[in-house]
Amino acid sequence: MQDRKSINRRTFLQGAAAATVGAAWLNPSWARAEGGNKLRVVGVGVGGQGWHDITQVAEHPDVAIVGAVDVDMRAADRAGGALNCDIWQDYREAFRDLADGFDAVVVSTPDHMHASIAMAAMNMDKHVYCQKPLTWCVAESRALSAMAQQKGHLATQMGTQWASRGAKRQVIAAIREGIIGKIQKVYAWSDRPAGWWPQGVEIPSGEDPVPQNLDWDLWIGGAPMRPYKNDTYAPFKWRGVKDFGTGAIGDMACHIADIPFYALGLTNPTSMISQANDVNDDTYPSSQNITLTFAGNDKIDGDTLELFWSDGGIKPAAEDLGAPAGFEVPQNTCFLIGTEGTIGFRHEDAKVWYWVNGEEKEFVGNRRLRDRNHYHHWVDACMGWGETETHFAFASKLTESMVLGTLASRFPGRKLEWDADNMRVTNLDAANAFIARDYREGWDVENL
Ligand SMILES: NC(=O)c1ccc[n+]([C@@H]2O[C@H](COP(=O)([O-])OP(=O)(O)OC[C@H]3O[C@@H](n4cnc5c(N)ncnc54)[C@H](O)[C@@H]3O)[C@@H](O)[C@H]2O)c1
Repeated sequence: MQDRKSINRRTFLQGAAAATVGAAWLNPSWARAEGGNKLRVVGVGVGGQGWHDITQVAEHPDVAIVGAVDVDMRAADRAGGALNCDIWQDYREAFRDLADGFDAVVVSTPDHMHASIAMAAMNMDKHVYCQKPLTWCVAESRALSAMAQQKGHLATQMGTQWASRGAKRQVIAAIREGIIGKIQKVYAWSDRPAGWWPQGVEIPSGEDPVPQNLDWDLWIGGAPMRPYKNDTYAPFKWRGVKDFGTGAIGDMACHIADIPFYALGLTNPTSMISQANDVNDDTYPSSQNITLTFAGNDKIDGDTLELFWSDGGIKPAAEDLGAPAGFEVPQNTCFLIGTEGTIGFRHEDAKVWYWVNGEEKEFVGNRRLRDRNHYHHWVDACMGWGETETHFAFASKLTESMVLGTLASRFPGRKLEWDADNMRVTNLDAANAFIARDYREGWDVENL
């Protein structure tokens, strides 16, 4: 196991594991802050998506990266070398050591650690960019949202960078303005997890040696301890494992199904039900349909609105969407069906479909709503300019709905009635065991 003490990058480079990494990554344009007015940022989880996140943030001219934290020393060292900053394996030690020496944190770890790290940062009065889904469970979302609102001077942003695209903002604005009338139904779906990561499978038994560069105890963090297995959890495959990830809906719905939350002001569902395939205790189902029901409002046609989510290869039929003849249902898309038309938006390439009475029309959005850089927009907000697209007060509502979807998938076929005010499933007590989480000893964080 690695030494858990904060590790100055130079110290680590003396270690054998560093032989193949390091100085080659150094990019002098990402110079280390030596005071001045730069926003001093720490990246936590800097392999995987975190590498993209921290290097994007580093591109902002007013940013200095002052720390890179990763439980995998190879990832930490790559970032430390590229960004010319000190590295740590344990975020708690990084925060303690840096103390007043940082202003903001980018959290790009697996889902089960988002809330702990984000809350620890906000407790210290730091701005936070946190990957999606914001949290692993509902109670964590509520706690982060409450803290972000209490500390209104902090800029928060969930890592749904596609929400800042001009095309998506144009679609949201048009729906808000009533281009398709009042909304009757929403469909959103993803091809995940099939072909991306395993779900609906038992975790292989036994234990493998932990790679020398990885601190498994730190990786587990506040979740229940379990033995390390190669090619099962880290990297990436933790998504399908209930203790760590939030399944396909947690992974993709914050990207794909955010449009009705922005456009219609959806908040909490009132009920949710999953029809799931290949259900087991350890991983989420291989595929499922989830129906989330929301209370109506002035943008919704009727007293309630149903959002139909599906994943693992299940897609709505073209007839469900009221599509023109010959329409081939794409993947990773959201459709809103309204009293005066239908709009669809595909996640990958921002393709828009706009139909009226089953006929295709040209969608002309408000071109003033251009692409924004989600990362830099957050940096600007940290420095007092503007507000973020996906601040925690909004992100917590979107995340809450998605993790309630994962909750339903633990009880397939049961319609769960959700009392949002009291944060309780009212008709199945067993479901309430997953609303909040008991953290492993030593991993409690104040205010969480
Ligand atoms: N916004 C997007 O487009 C997008 C894309 C991919 C992933 N993500 C999100 O990014 C997050 C990470 O996903 P990933 O695919 O990069 O996972 P990953 O497992 O590939 O990488 C996670 C990284 O975090 C490190 N890590 C794990 N626990 C840590 C801890 N407690 N402290 C510090 N470092 C830790 C790992 O060593 C690894 O380097 C997830 O929340 C995921 O949903 C977002």
